[in-house]
Amino acid sequence: MCGIVGYIGERNCIPILINGLKRLEYRGYDSAGIGIVDDDSCLIVKNKGKVSLLEDKLESLDLKSSIGLGHTRWATHGIPNEINAHPHSNEDNSIFLIHNGIIENYQVLKKGLMGFGYKFLSETDSEVLVHLIDSFTKRGHNLTKSVQLALHEVEGTYGLAVISSKEPDKIIAARKGSPLVVGIGENENFLASDVSAIIAHTKQIIYLEDGEIAVIKKDEFTAKTIYDNAIEKEVHEISMTLEEIDRGGYAHFMLKEIMEQPESLRNSIRGRIIQSEGDVVLGGLTDVVEKLANSKRIIITACGTSWHAGLVGEYMLEQFCRIPTEVEYASEFRYRNPIIEKDDAIFFISQSGETADTLAALREAKMKGALVLGICNAVGSSIARETNAGVYTHAGPEIGVASTKAFTAQMTVLLLMCLFLASSKGELSKKQMQDILSELDGIPEKIEKALKTNEEIKKIALKLKDAENFIYLGRGYGFPLALEGALKLKEISYIHAEGCPAGEMKHGPIALVDENMPVVFIANKGNSYEKLISNMMEVKARKGIIIALITEGDTHVKEIADFVIEIPETLDVLMPFVASIPLQLLAYHIALLRGCDIDKPRNLAKSVTVE
Ligand code: AGP
Repeated sequence: MCGIVGYIGERNCIPILINGLKRLEYRGYDSAGIGIVDDDSCLIVKNKGKVSLLEDKLESLDLKSSIGLGHTRWATHGIPNEINAHPHSNEDNSIFLIHNGIIENYQVLKKGLMGFGYKFLSETDSEVLVHLIDSFTKRGHNLTKSVQLALHEVEGTYGLAVISSKEPDKIIAARKGSPLVVGIGENENFLASDVSAIIAHTKQIIYLEDGEIAVIKKDEFTAKTIYDNAIEKEVHEISMTLEEIDRGGYAHFMLKEIMEQPESLRNSIRGRIIQSEGDVVLGGLTDVVEKLANSKRIIITACGTSWHAGLVGEYMLEQFCRIPTEVEYASEFRYRNPIIEKDDAIFFISQSGETADTLAALREAKMKGALVLGICNAVGSSIARETNAGVYTHAGPEIGVASTKAFTAQMTVLLLMCLFLASSKGELSKKQMQDILSELDGIPEKIEKALKTNEEIKKIALKLKDAENFIYLGRGYGFPLALEGALKLKEISYIHAEGCPAGEMKHGPIALVDENMPVVFIANKGNSYEKLISNMMEVKARKGIIIALITEGDTHVKEIADFVIEIPETLDVLMPFVASIPLQLLAYHIALLRGCDIDKPRNLAKSVTVE
């Protein structure tokens, strides 16, 4: 899941490419590179590591060109180094290419090309593409045709762009599986993996779909399929602002996004609740409400944090709609030939809307005729465009790799969809709906209160920052939270952490507990409070270090736990919204104290666009 950016126009493309790459760096930051046409020849500059290192290198070279491509890499094939960085060029350096995705049959293609005497410099799958294209130009085809013919032979996924010094008036771009957008300007045009890289320059966006190829000139844009069928493309006006994707004075995007949650939750709720009627309005589901209400089973499919939100959704749907609900890891669901019935409804949850595992599961489910609904944050993303219907989470751009505000927004949308369904099925009375909706309406204030535990959590983090392992425990709605708390700590502090149902401890994990093991309990006064206290006593008996999230004013747990963090009281179903905050802050402060790169944790990327 690399980041791609391109420019053709009249301005010097170098600063445009570098700023675009910086905006895309959350997609991958192993190495970076740019390619330009300079005096009728191609010039490539690339570097191992962050975009800032490439920028320093370019400053000393003082290059100028009005056409160029930039790439920031998340390695799949070939270690992170300068050779494997993109762009890759052909042997006479007249064509260069950048690629996001995986070429699954690259070994076969490479062998064939080596048979024709082609030499390869890198270990990447992507380099095969530029030599394949070259082989068609050598047979007299122009660049566009050569790219089309090359892609006829390719299996796998790609978002790619190609430039030739022999046709320096155009950029060729093509998409299959990996996102690509084109930005339309005045006498200039742009290309990128997502809009954040180019919104500083234009709000006129064209989304490329799978199987499409685009010819981008400075004052012209044409698109067709890789099999040469002409297509009309719609230009979308996007609303995202630059401010929304700036750190706004916070030390990290993750901290900014944690602190934004009262507002992002209000945005997820806005215009969707009619309190007086005890009603929920979800325009995105209007066309499918009947099919959804008659669905015999709901399957929720996602990855990572979105999967944890899905697990909360399962508890909600079974509690309020009494519909059998299952939660599936998309990467497993996709390949185990799942049993999907025509009257199943399948929810696909994804912040980025581009996660390849979830997208592949969606296409599988669609092929089997189920109703497929999306819960996405990124507007216009592939999952949003390919589902039958859906609901946007409206959390605003999430840049920090560790998902925070998208998680609480996903739970908000799941609850709204659940209440929408429950009321359409008559499972909840108007009064019951009003009670839950008014409590939901008050959650942003309760989150503001939970954010005030920040200073306290800093002190706890100071005590626990050197721990080598952590266990997170919860019951009921606290179980998915335990999983999410553990994931947050793992992905940004690199401490091994495990989340599990508190009741499962005595069946094995309790063997891990000793005086060095911090155990985080989601111990709010919910349905299974008493049972959870017994689990806490089991850990205490083994000298585990107990950190407990407790309901304000709970004095009982204070006597047992080593550290307590108080959260405002609310309904059991809404507790995950408030309890997420201290879990996010604990992970943040521990990672900060350990000197970790919080917004760009090692080995991770924000949008996982390869399976
Ligand atoms: C969460 O912090 C991680 N970034 C990761 O687990 C993420 O939730 C997962 O990759 C799914 O991403 P999506 O919501 O964009 O599909």
